[in-house]
Amino acid sequence: MAGNWKMYKTPAETGSFFEKFRPLVAATQYCEIVICPPFTNIAAAVEAARGTRIQVGAQNLYWAKEGAFTGEVSGPMIRAAAAAYVIIGHSERRQYFGETDATVLKKIGAALEAGLTPIVCVGELLEHREAGQTDAVLSEQCCEGILRLDDREFAQVVIAYEPVWAIGTGKTATPEIAAAAHRTIRGEVRSRYGEDAAGQVRILYGGSVKPDNVRSLMAQTEIDGALVGGASLDPVSFASIVNFQS
Ligand code: PGA
Repeated sequence: MAGNWKMYKTPAETGSFFEKFRPLVAATQYCEIVICPPFTNIAAAVEAARGTRIQVGAQNLYWAKEGAFTGEVSGPMIRAAAAAYVIIGHSERRQYFGETDATVLKKIGAALEAGLTPIVCVGELLEHREAGQTDAVLSEQCCEGILRLDDREFAQVVIAYEPVWAIGTGKTATPEIAAAAHRTIRGEVRSRYGEDAAGQVRILYGGSVKPDNVRSLMAQTEIDGALVGGASLDPVSFASIVNFQS
């Protein structure tokens, strides 16, 4: 269960979030819990998560290790800040910052080399879905991105299916729509890496996941977890998503 805070919260606000969130998930055992704050809050989040099962992730990285790349942050820098995960290829990065399947692939390589677990996002636009192109778009994003990894690399990747029309819009994909897209992605994984890899890869659903819809989404066996934006900003709401079974 991963929270993507996007461009929200200061270090002080990060501290207050964790004070409330920590006790609410202290007994949670069944899943990994990841918070991805802005870069400026990674240190505060790592400090606040010390001694808990909560892990911290970044929302992006650049593929070079260091160099004259003003404004960028590298995998080794993120790892040295004690984050364990990094979101790659989020649709907001693809839409507003020109990321492509090719840059996503480079970033995945850089993340793995730095010892970070990449959470790689794929998902179709509304116009793709309306034109019946969802499967084709997902297959292409997979084929040009994650499916170019070798078996050993692929085994370390988490995938997030995020239909772009459902992100921040309050329009969640129905559990059935989400599961069908997950099946498409898992099918691509199966044809490339085989049955075991398809069974083992974790595919998260993202797009307006809330405390009141998480249970029906997670009831789909295809859905292994959630990547949560808006609802991860509030400690009580994200904790109730994490603890949806109780
Ligand atoms: P949302 O964002 O939950 O606010 O729709 C999800 C995401 O963009 O990862």
